[in-house]
Amino acid sequence: MNTSTRMLLALAAFCVACGAPSFAKSPAKVSRTYALVDGARIAAADSEPQNWMAHGRTYGEQRFSPLKQVNAGNVEKLGLAWSYATGTLRGLQATPIVVDGMMFTTGVWSVVYALDAKTGQEIWKYDPEVPREWGRYACCDAVNRGVAVWKGSVYFATLDGRLVCLDARTGGRRWEVNTIDRSKPYTITGAPRIVKDKVLIGNGGAEYGVRGYFSAYDASTGKLVWRFYTVPGNPKDGFENPELEAAAKTWNGEWWVGGGGGTVWDSMAYDPDLDTLYVGTGNGSPWARDIRSPGGGDNLFLSSILAMNPDTGRLKWHYQVTPADNWDYTATQHIILADLVIEGKTRKVLMQAPKNGFFYVLDRETGQLISADKFAPVTWASRVDLTTGRPVETPEATYSRETRLIVPAPVGAHNWQPMAYNPGTGLVYIPAMQPMGIYALSKEFQETGKYPRRDMFWNPGIDWDAFIDTALGLMEQLGGPLPPDRGYLKAWDPLQKKTVWEIEHPAFWNGGLLTTAGDLLFQGTGDGRFVAYAADTGKILWAVPTSIGIIAPPITYEVDGEQYVAVMAGYGGSGGLSGGDPRTMASGKYVNEGYVFAFKLGGKAPMPRVAEKNHLIPEQPAIDATAAQLENGKYRYMGTCMVCHGALAMSGGVVPDLRMLPPEKHAIFNEIVYDGIIHGAGMPKLSDLVSEQDVHDIHAYVISRANEDRNPPVPGVDSEK
Ligand code: HEC
Repeated sequence: MNTSTRMLLALAAFCVACGAPSFAKSPAKVSRTYALVDGARIAAADSEPQNWMAHGRTYGEQRFSPLKQVNAGNVEKLGLAWSYATGTLRGLQATPIVVDGMMFTTGVWSVVYALDAKTGQEIWKYDPEVPREWGRYACCDAVNRGVAVWKGSVYFATLDGRLVCLDARTGGRRWEVNTIDRSKPYTITGAPRIVKDKVLIGNGGAEYGVRGYFSAYDASTGKLVWRFYTVPGNPKDGFENPELEAAAKTWNGEWWVGGGGGTVWDSMAYDPDLDTLYVGTGNGSPWARDIRSPGGGDNLFLSSILAMNPDTGRLKWHYQVTPADNWDYTATQHIILADLVIEGKTRKVLMQAPKNGFFYVLDRETGQLISADKFAPVTWASRVDLTTGRPVETPEATYSRETRLIVPAPVGAHNWQPMAYNPGTGLVYIPAMQPMGIYALSKEFQETGKYPRRDMFWNPGIDWDAFIDTALGLMEQLGGPLPPDRGYLKAWDPLQKKTVWEIEHPAFWNGGLLTTAGDLLFQGTGDGRFVAYAADTGKILWAVPTSIGIIAPPITYEVDGEQYVAVMAGYGGSGGLSGGDPRTMASGKYVNEGYVFAFKLGGKAPMPRVAEKNHLIPEQPAIDATAAQLENGKYRYMGTCMVCHGALAMSGGVVPDLRMLPPEKHAIFNEIVYDGIIHGAGMPKLSDLVSEQDVHDIHAYVISRANEDRNPPVPGVDSEK
């Protein structure tokens, strides 16, 4: 694009956004457009398919692009146009935004990058300097899912709860507000959405004991306009609104002590015609309902879809996908708005495939349930009753008295990785999973009736002793390690209510999706590939090895008449930290370097060479511990370290695998864990949770695990290349 066409585009965009007259006075100031996006432009996104102006491209978040220069007939000519190294080693989950040739995206510790979308050249970078200690409140990695743009500004939120507005041209800060009570372990990983000059943002933290809410801030001043709490607080303090007063009738006991949960950490969608904002809420805090709300109750508005008035922040209707959530089944998964012809009638629907394994189609005007069908194996409920709208729980779903194996596990049959809907094929594509969960109710609670509090730390009300004993028992039965959880790409027909085709991936934790009018579907995988499929049949048409696991969703855009497909590569998130088997993941073999990759037809740039990791478990120091201390170390490890370093001291490769510790780190193990000497790198100081004796015992357990895997060596973790 030459400068004069840029000027013209700038002028056109400026007129749409701000009106011509004010521009006419100072034309020299704008030589290029900088994110001059507003609601009218997003609502008419199909008229400028070269841009990706909002999180799901459109307000309805279909993640479908009308671009088709790259299509099923020529996709095999796709090659790398450019790559940008973020210089990070943890999870990248953002959806880049592209407006008029400029790309805005985010990375580890909430850093924002502005790049030239044609060359990948960095234009500016903004580091909000998140205190690394805050990492201990993040259940699922120091990730961020992206920015929103509006009228020349870029908006994003930080892991430690701030909402920041930057000048899109310079990256200079316009304003910043704190959105949380900083004495509570709230985190933000989600991307803001912007509707009618209001920046909408929620937060996470339900594994740590917080009360969920989301807020609307004025886009130009950062002033709080409204806030909606998703669960009621202590009735003694009064209720914020009648919705919460009614919701309190569905709770028992002193739920507010553990916060209740219901955090809004990801999904939102907006229908401009109905002027309705749709928001998904998270799991209960703690997970176990026996502890959270003794005596039962649905616990509104946990695990629900909320339809909101965006002006007032008041609730229009709600649908609870998992009443009385007991399993960490969030409804924060991607929400897609579409018009579907159902039994001869065009219905305005909302679709969601939440963690609980059912695919929901709702009438988005009324909230009426149209259908709910299993898209993955599910054992907690037999079906959803369409007349009552409620799931029919199985007896196996309750773990009040005994430990249960339940499918799906807390990581869900589908997590935050976005789906995509292609109006051409009529299919919804789901990054689906088949994880098995071990659910054991806290022994302390069973014995004392009290919630075992561990303030400001991961505390879902689960008994780790029983969890480990069950896992070890299963391994004994099988005579080897548990089979890894399975991951799929599924094409789901929302009308026929069934899977049309599916592809199994080596890793269970894979990337989000993009589909296009070129009959294409794009996905990155956990084993380190970026793949194009035929959207109708699922046939693999093109694939490039990245050597880096991909979880982020791809986007597509056009600059100077050329179509690009871009994706962030960098493994992480809950599945990358603690859920996986490193033998199935690229991060188990290669250094997890972060990149933005952009591909185009005939692209000739070389894929960056990613360094291989040393897979050899080094020789270990002698163990100086009794059998009882080793046992203590094992349980303490699971309760305190597993969330980041992986079950059984086997990490997904995103944070250090403790079996690989070199001698010099063994020598300072206590200083690292108890004194927190590397907290600046994201390894929290944990002296409030474990004693020095515990650290000693954990150390012994880690050494014993390393020795187990050294002899005999685990395939893929040994020296085999
Ligand atoms: C909130 C996540 C989190 C938790 C919980 C956590 N760690 Fe870490 N840990 C990290 C990260 C991130 C690093 C890497 C920091 C860096 O880049 O140097 C790390 C590094 C380490 C290291 C140094 C490894 C090396 O090779 O340099 C040790 C040892 C360690 N952790 C032990 C533990 C133990 C033991 C526990 C439990 C008592 C624990 N960690 C809990 C995130 C965590």
